[in-house]
Amino acid sequence: MNVYDAERMADILAPVGYVLTDTPDDADLVILNTCHIREKAAEKVYSDLGRVRRIKSARVETEPMMIAVAGCVAQAEGEEILKRAPYVDMVFGPQTYHRLPEMVARAHRLAGAVLETDFPVESKFDFLPQPSAKGRTSAFLTVQEGCDKFCTFCVVPYTRGAEFSRPVDQVISEARGLAAAGVREITLLGQNVNNYHGNTGGCADWSLGRLIAELGDINGLDRIRYTTSYPADVDKALIAAHRDVPALMPYLHLPVQSGSDRVLKAMNRRHTADDYRRLVANLRAARPDLALSTDLIVGFPGESDRDFQDTMDLVAEIGFVGAYSFKYSPRPGTPAAIMESQVDEAVKKNRLAALQELLSLQQSKFNSACVGNELDVLLDGHGRHSGQLIGRSPFMQAVHVSAPSDLIGSIVTLRIDEAHPNSLAASVPEKWKTQRAIA
Ligand code: 5AD
Ligand code: SF4
Repeated sequence: MNVYDAERMADILAPVGYVLTDTPDDADLVILNTCHIREKAAEKVYSDLGRVRRIKSARVETEPMMIAVAGCVAQAEGEEILKRAPYVDMVFGPQTYHRLPEMVARAHRLAGAVLETDFPVESKFDFLPQPSAKGRTSAFLTVQEGCDKFCTFCVVPYTRGAEFSRPVDQVISEARGLAAAGVREITLLGQNVNNYHGNTGGCADWSLGRLIAELGDINGLDRIRYTTSYPADVDKALIAAHRDVPALMPYLHLPVQSGSDRVLKAMNRRHTADDYRRLVANLRAARPDLALSTDLIVGFPGESDRDFQDTMDLVAEIGFVGAYSFKYSPRPGTPAAIMESQVDEAVKKNRLAALQELLSLQQSKFNSACVGNELDVLLDGHGRHSGQLIGRSPFMQAVHVSAPSDLIGSIVTLRIDEAHPNSLAASVPEKWKTQRAIA
């Protein structure tokens, strides 16, 4: 979502004359778009700021530079950032960046810094221009934001605010615009994307399943994905979309966090490990080739060896083909941060290593099983070697192939020859065909 937000910031600043630079050295404005989810990400802001400050200092005599801190660290720490880094000119949260042109003008006028961390009444999406998507094959599209779930470890409900769904018309027109600009794949974004309730202006809101069915009919939009989902909010319409919408890719990121019911309860997750198992079974009944990835936290307060083993067992049983796994990181203001029985750092480290070993084994197994098969690959750029293109399989695997550049932007059926830990090597079959050619 931060990638999407950063692109939208560039879009809204374009009419007032800003263009993207490759390095901060010659920038007139540097925006650090920040993440507050774990301590490491939040602390990085200050080291990055130190680096940008040195560039700013060197430029005072020539062309002055402005520094802005955006995103969730800005939202959570606001004033604190200005105290720790008084050379910062603007601090604004993730819900106010549509005001950027006005904020920039104000920062130029003012002697002091601009601080915008209130949650505005208006929706930023009503003020943002259609995203520029030229030259893109794949794009993000935020349809939902915020979270009302309050998992006890998580800062998102405090930094992104309450759940909000963009109206259906707005989403469809943005998707059509992307498809018209040549985008073949969109990933629908939201912290709780599957709790999407889009206003249609009529009597009933649309669910995510309904929205996906509609987007699946847009010409040129061959691939649809969505992330991130909350297991307890997966409804029948969404499961049906996995069965009925061919553009919906057979790869789903579905965070489970832990395999232990005791831990899930302490996390306030509102689902048990068995609820999750049942849900996966229903999804697989709808789409038998569905591959799953997840998010996992180890060392949540009170997590015992037995609880951790439950997580390992669930991971093996579901057979996740990918995952983001983290050591629990206490976040200020969240209930878990002040729970007793915080887990020792060394224990967290060992558990994370064991979990990641299992996960990478499963990923390798999945990649190896693809060798000899044909997969549809959306080619989206040049690889590291000359003549090499890279793309993504339906299961999000990175695929390399030697093929002509004019295939970039096409979905090509390739033969998978080799599996590497994080990618696949493929070749063009004798009689390859693009989906474009079929259409
Ligand atoms: N510590 C560790 N991981 C966390 N996540 C969220 N908050 C924390 C935390 N305090 C992880 C969860 C979530 C992902 C985006 O980040 O797994 O799904
Ligand atoms: Fe955070 Fe996701 Fe839980 Fe919301 S549902 S509080 S975003 S982990």
